[in-house]
Amino acid sequence: MQTAAKKIAVLGASRGLGRALKLEISANEANSKAGGEIRGAQFLLAARNEEKLGLLKSQQDLTFACDFTKTEDQARLLNALIEFQPTHIFYVAGGGPYGRFESKKWADHAWALELNFNWPARMLHTIMSHLPEYKNLKQIVFVGSAIAGQGPDPMAASYAAAKHALRGLITSVRKENPSLDIRLYEPGYMATDMLPPSAWPRQQGLAKSPEDEARALWQWAQSTLD
Ligand SMILES: NC(=O)c1ccc[n+]([C@@H]2O[C@H](COP(=O)([O-])OP(=O)(O)OC[C@H]3O[C@@H](n4cnc5c(N)ncnc54)[C@H](OP(=O)(O)O)[C@@H]3O)[C@@H](O)[C@H]2O)c1
Repeated sequence: MQTAAKKIAVLGASRGLGRALKLEISANEANSKAGGEIRGAQFLLAARNEEKLGLLKSQQDLTFACDFTKTEDQARLLNALIEFQPTHIFYVAGGGPYGRFESKKWADHAWALELNFNWPARMLHTIMSHLPEYKNLKQIVFVGSAIAGQGPDPMAASYAAAKHALRGLITSVRKENPSLDIRLYEPGYMATDMLPPSAWPRQQGLAKSPEDEARALWQWAQSTLD
């Protein structure tokens, strides 16, 4: 009999790393066995593009079309998470305006700050301060950036500011010894929509495939950290 041992919320699942992560975990969990019993995973897949989520989902999965930068959608998502009762949450969504800081509208920078930092920080705070309501939750992984989270990223200043803030938040909270496994995963360049085909890391062969990165991420998420 197939049992859904893991319930995994992938927030930012429609494309790129989030999509590859869903497929990677599905393949692994479908093939894994514990005590002779075949196990599986059930997903809550969230992003704005409902159609892409629908194409990605398996029969037992749920989709949740929402915009992480919109207050009303954030509240709906928190309710959906409580209803789903995840064992794992991956916050994969990210993005920001590309260009000189002053050439972009403040609204674009505010969007990047909300998507990459304010909302994931508030979501983490809400979950941690209402932990009894998330009774199966074991782990939350946030995706940062080895590039924009750790150094200057010209033409992506507000994105870099938000990824730095995310790093500061998660590394600090981890030092508070939370009862949950809270992690920050910082990939390097990936060949996704975020990186145009003409971008130099792609041209120079430095961009990993999202599939390879998803494999590394899932293995790392299951490993014990120091
Ligand atoms: N690509 C790189 O080179 C690179 C390097 C380092 C770190 N990263 C980080 O890795 C993560 C994944 O990046 P990626 O390259 O896979 O990006 P991507 O291909 O652009 O995919 C981004 C995902 O986030 C979702 N998303 C974006 N804005 C959203 C919003 N407002 N509300 C809900 N969902 C939203 C998108 O879905 P919808 O459009 O359907 O909403 C999509 O599923 C991000 O955190 C990114 O910052 C990427």
